[in-house]
Amino acid sequence: MTDRKKIALPYLFQKVQDKEPISWLTCYDYPTAYLQDQAGVEMILVGDSLGMTMLGYDSTLPVTMDDMIRHASAVRRGAPTAFVVGDMPYMSYQPGNEIAVKNAGRFMAEAGCDAIKLEGGAAMAPRIQAIVEAGIPAIGHLGLTPQSVAALGGFRLQGKSAEMAKKIADDAKALEKAGAFAILLELVPDRLCKMITERAENCIIMSLGSGPDAHGQLLIYHDMFGLYPKFKPKMAKVFGNAGEVILNGLKQYVSEVKSVTFPAPENWFGMPDEEFNELKKIVK
Ligand code: KIV
Repeated sequence: MTDRKKIALPYLFQKVQDKEPISWLTCYDYPTAYLQDQAGVEMILVGDSLGMTMLGYDSTLPVTMDDMIRHASAVRRGAPTAFVVGDMPYMSYQPGNEIAVKNAGRFMAEAGCDAIKLEGGAAMAPRIQAIVEAGIPAIGHLGLTPQSVAALGGFRLQGKSAEMAKKIADDAKALEKAGAFAILLELVPDRLCKMITERAENCIIMSLGSGPDAHGQLLIYHDMFGLYPKFKPKMAKVFGNAGEVILNGLKQYVSEVKSVTFPAPENWFGMPDEEFNELKKIVK
């Protein structure tokens, strides 16, 4: 267990004041959460990307609230210190404020999250406002928003033209005004991210593939360790190829079972001769 104090909102705003970038990673399970907490990761996102990275769907759309609660609870148990954010899945908030507040509340009450995140610009500002008014800290998500990937034309850079960039900057202001304490900018040009960060008054701007000039960085855990087989986004940096290490270990396991070099004596338990002889007598 880490002896760090539980991270709460004042800590995050203090980091902004201190101009110290905040570290944020996705996480979906207990053992990884434990390691991230030990490593000092400050924020954890239980992202609906788990639909792809953990459940093998082609998109995040099939993920349900029950999936999210199961994974977020496991992450909370593994990471008692980090600031844990529950990601609201597709159609858990879009239909209306009431359902949005109800589902945001589930993250807090059932999974022990510290905040929620939802995707979308000005059109989602009323959802953010309703959730914040219910006492739940909320994070907005702009730029490449995977739940709208069909409408956005694929996993690609957003806000390339001045006109599109202005819309994202306006959306950021609308979310900030609605009460979002933070906004994630995913895959927007670095200069747009810098501009939005400079214009933010009381809102923490986080970057995922949007350059260094934000209040902190987010990465997808599976991308940074080579654990997602289908593709590696250009923006992700591989910090270690755990996928390769695990694959080699698995191949060795199969080979050792076949060659009967596993198990070795240290991997099993014996029985004293007298007990075994007695056993043979009593078993016909
Ligand atoms: O679900 C997720 O992990 C996300 C990231 C892509 C930002 O929302």
